[in-house]
Amino acid sequence: MAGWHRETASSVGLLLLLLSALSSGRPQEKCPGDKSCQSPRPPVVLIPGDLGNQLEAKLDKPSVVHYICYKKTDVYFTLWLNLELLVPVAIDCWIDNIRLIYNRTTHSTEAPPGVDIRVPGFGKTFSLEYLDPSKRSVGMYFFSIVQAMVEWGYTRDDDVRGAPYDWRKAPNENKKYFLMLQQMIEEMAEKAGGPVVLIAHSMGNMYTLYFLNQQPQAWKDKYIKAFVSLGPPWAGVAKTLRVVTSGDNNRIPVISPLKIRTQQRTAVSTNWLLPYAHSWPKNKVLVQTPKTNYTVQDYQRLYSDIGFEDGWLMRQDTESLVADLRPPGVEVHCLYGTGVPTSEAFQYSDKFPDVEPTVVYGDGDGTVNLHSAIQCGRWAGKQKQPVMLKELSGNEHVNMLLNFTTVAYIKTVLFSP
Ligand SMILES: *[C@@H]1O[C@H](CO)[C@@H](O)[C@H](O)[C@H]1NC(C)=O
Ligand SMILES: *[C@@H]1O[C@H](CO)[C@@H](O)[C@H](O)[C@H]1NC(C)=O
Ligand SMILES: *[C@@H]1O[C@H](CO)[C@@H](O)[C@H](O)[C@H]1NC(C)=O
Repeated sequence: MAGWHRETASSVGLLLLLLSALSSGRPQEKCPGDKSCQSPRPPVVLIPGDLGNQLEAKLDKPSVVHYICYKKTDVYFTLWLNLELLVPVAIDCWIDNIRLIYNRTTHSTEAPPGVDIRVPGFGKTFSLEYLDPSKRSVGMYFFSIVQAMVEWGYTRDDDVRGAPYDWRKAPNENKKYFLMLQQMIEEMAEKAGGPVVLIAHSMGNMYTLYFLNQQPQAWKDKYIKAFVSLGPPWAGVAKTLRVVTSGDNNRIPVISPLKIRTQQRTAVSTNWLLPYAHSWPKNKVLVQTPKTNYTVQDYQRLYSDIGFEDGWLMRQDTESLVADLRPPGVEVHCLYGTGVPTSEAFQYSDKFPDVEPTVVYGDGDGTVNLHSAIQCGRWAGKQKQPVMLKELSGNEHVNMLLNFTTVAYIKTVLFSP
């Protein structure tokens, strides 16, 4: 008898263990308000910046720009980032696949005929840890942060996940993305029994702000613990003016700036990130030619003079998305690099716009102007949640993601009560 009792007792114990394991997916039903049920770590969602996650393409094109270009592929291949596609001649094929075509009637963009583009790995981290699937260090992006988190007990694709998107477009053309993001945050928060930390880089911050501005405060109070903002271009980036005017090869010498300009201009997001009048001095000359000075108030004329009228339409379509910089309504940590020469204005010769400019430099992280990054400071006192700014002196825009100080800061946010 005694033996029977013991066995029953241990089976009951086992059953309870199994039940609690099974129900751990929905702890809020088992123990509402009971902190002991919460995961010791808040789940984390990573939101990358412009060019910050992989894109894949599949082709079945009516025509190609060069005989070496593929017309048809059986499977999806990596379109970004694959350095082999960016070498001379091959880059012409690449541009013809990655460019967007703007429709003035619908105010939306589409891929060229026969090009199907998809974003791999939503909910996973691989497509933003390394941009280049071959994992060459040149494409290292969120890897250091994710790897550190794994050492702190996190699990890739479980309680740390990526939210990659089609960064050629602005939020107005990525409606479905925001629904997927919301759903993923809710699932992760419910599984962990507590709110999520969002970590965004560069343009991902503009996406995140747009997303948070759309959510009711009650939703944010329930699901978001904090928003860690790395290298945010709140007021746009002066460098985009050079990109649309004469192109920017990002210092990759094999790429001709004028050639890559075709692709860069058609990305709606480039036009969305032109400097904003709410923060840039109205009379500051941003683009100078022997004939004309262009300020933040002269974009319509600039687009016309560079022969890219669609760009002005794209700008108007997207300008209001986050232009009022409404407070996000969650705890914000704004980390930004300084002390790296950052393009501030461009001086062109009479060959404008088909020539490289003389660049005037100011302070920032080499991409984002300091003045733009610190605009999160305006939220202090305008929302009840704290707003923290941290300067990372000497940090470049992308290298900031690899810096120990950044990683250590993230750790304190994650493990603070
Ligand atoms: C733009 O979109 C409209 C409406 O869908 C379509 O009728 C038109 O053919 C498109 N224009 C171009 C140039 O593709
Ligand atoms: C453009 O602005 C500069 C000062 O920033 C001034 O020296 C120059 O004369 C202006 N050029 C024209 C065409 O207005
Ligand atoms: C990391 O960032 C800190 C703070 O800005 C800076 O002092 C340090 O030099 C950086 N380290 C590296 C290796 O860049």
